Amino acid sequence: MKRNIAVFASGSGSNFEAIARACADGTLNARIAVCVVDKPRAYAIVRAESLGIPVLVLSPKDFPSKREYEKEIADRLDRENVELVCLAGYMRIVGDELLSRYGGKIINIHPALLPAFPGAHAIEDSFRYGVKVFGVTIHYVDETLDGGKIISQVAVPYEGSDIAELEAMIHKAEHKLYVDTVRCLLCE
Ligand code: GAR
Repeated sequence: MKRNIAVFASGSGSNFEAIARACADGTLNARIAVCVVDKPRAYAIVRAESLGIPVLVLSPKDFPSKREYEKEIADRLDRENVELVCLAGYMRIVGDELLSRYGGKIINIHPALLPAFPGAHAIEDSFRYGVKVFGVTIHYVDETLDGGKIISQVAVPYEGSDIAELEAMIHKAEHKLYVDTVRCLLCE
């Protein structure tokens, strides 16, 4: 039986799409029950609609508190019997409400070899630093920024000078690692 997962995004949604396509072609024995987006103009919404995946678009500023915002999300996850929550470019620290209800079931992807270069600009930061081995990390989510126990990593060696080329290589590595890691976690 297919397992219900959720994907959270704030931006482009390319990782969301990689997971969605893997669900559609049977690479992953899962279905994305809902794609949660916190930015009404995120391109992830367009991708979800074109793939026929339900989207829940909620702006935190429309709620009296972060708890209320996360309560609405967690209630939806409950209704969908979601077993695993995949953060995919969801640019928010997860708060107490989601952690207390889904802790241990929330994972995140980050475009660097954590604990190096946490934050929202990891590729740019590591490129400017002069890194020669870049990479991708998938980790469990806790209350810290890009913290939590590491599940999987892949290295992306790059010694060139074209950041766009580097970004494309990292995103390609992300899409594969995310699908492979979700598959492993759902098998455990
Ligand atoms: C991805 O590179 C992801 O690793 C990064 O945001 C991008 C989202 O791309 N996440 C972080 O930096 C988390 N700190 P996408 O919307 O195309 O999947």
